[in-house]
Amino acid sequence: MKITVINGTEKKGVTYKLKEIFLEPFKGKAEITEFYLPRDCPSFCSGCTTCFLKDQHLCKDAEYIQKIEKALLEADLLVFTSPAYVFHATGAMKAMLDHFGYRWMPHRPAKEMFGKRAFIITQCLGAGGNSTAKDIKDSLSWWGVSYIRKRSFRLMSDIKWDKIPEKNRAKMTSSLTKDATRFLAMDYSKKTGTNLITKCKFYAVRMLQTDLGKADPEYTDYKYWKENGWIDGVRPWK
Ligand SMILES: Cc1cc2nc3c(=O)[nH]c(=O)nc-3n(C[C@H](O)[C@H](O)[C@H](O)COP(=O)(O)O)c2cc1C
Repeated sequence: MKITVINGTEKKGVTYKLKEIFLEPFKGKAEITEFYLPRDCPSFCSGCTTCFLKDQHLCKDAEYIQKIEKALLEADLLVFTSPAYVFHATGAMKAMLDHFGYRWMPHRPAKEMFGKRAFIITQCLGAGGNSTAKDIKDSLSWWGVSYIRKRSFRLMSDIKWDKIPEKNRAKMTSSLTKDATRFLAMDYSKKTGTNLITKCKFYAVRMLQTDLGKADPEYTDYKYWKENGWIDGVRPWK
């Protein structure tokens, strides 16, 4: 199996440690590709909208984005991590997610995303871990991923791993090892089912794209939906 990890920070701190604990049982059993932000996606989206209106390969940051996208599409399991920064995902994570706006359902979602599994790890000192996970989940779900699980921790102590009380470290380790065991036991030759919310989003956008196509059959997103057969009877989850 293949795992692609997007690390929301380059720091080898608590978030890194938690991610390593989760990945430990997969070592030697899975091909793991990791990206560290901002190193692997160092620039912000400039808002030029070229990806939406013309082609994502024309983005000024395409060399970074397309490398990440290839790994995301090839993976069986997506792992995203971030510490809470002022109640949200790191700016580096947000900057990367902005670049994938063209993959949101109202534009050109990748059919490979439907049926994938994803796991989000976040942590914070006192509060904001859940809203941080939601920042990431928003993108994953609008990309078409239905099976998204998250594990969020509140340190309530020092923010250096070695200074966190042993009891708390053991608790976090145990939770993540159980999560990893669950993910490891899954049959990755089978896609997960697509949930009702994802299907509702798809059908709402399908209506929108059908109207847009009537007004302009050359519209980039409409052409993509048409070429995939989604305006007709084909569905990305089948
Ligand atoms: C800029 C910044 C903002 C932070 N904002 C929050 C926050 O809103 N809530 C919180 O509980 N912890 C916050 N923290 C603490 C982090 O979430 C995290 O616990 C700490 O940075 C350790 O994680 P790391 O070693 O992976 O960087 C913040 C830390 C930084 C550097």
